[in-house]
Amino acid sequence: MARLTINARPVAFDMDPRTPLLWALRDGANLTGTKYGCGVGDCGACTVLVDGAALRSCLVTLAECEGRVVVTIEGLSRDRSHPVQQALVAEQAIQCGFCTPGLVMNAAALLTANANPSEAEIKAALPNLCRCGVQPRLVRAIQRAA
Ligand code: FES
Repeated sequence: MARLTINARPVAFDMDPRTPLLWALRDGANLTGTKYGCGVGDCGACTVLVDGAALRSCLVTLAECEGRVVVTIEGLSRDRSHPVQQALVAEQAIQCGFCTPGLVMNAAALLTANANPSEAEIKAALPNLCRCGVQPRLVRAIQRAA
């Protein structure tokens, strides 16, 4: 039984402790905002915050997350959209939206660590590749959010 805090609530998973956090969130906690893209750590679609750091949930197991604090896209901002989400809308930086949750989580972690990142720092911090081709707008949106 793995016990985590997810979006400020205690959650116990009766799942194989080797289960990737991604599938525990999606199948065990019905938090489907976290997306499966590649399953091997390349795309960033599965990014969540674990103890405040952006991590690819396809690469960490439930056992590795025991006792840790996880925030998913559903729990990032309770009352209103997070500033990164607002900026994505303002910059029209969303196309299909599949990569968006992971992108928002990476950007939120970046801005927590660095409130005024340069364009190069933004590009270096975002593993998420938007295959719809709005990458320049994503960078502008994160600059706007900062
Ligand atoms: Fe985890 Fe692509 S699904 S990085």
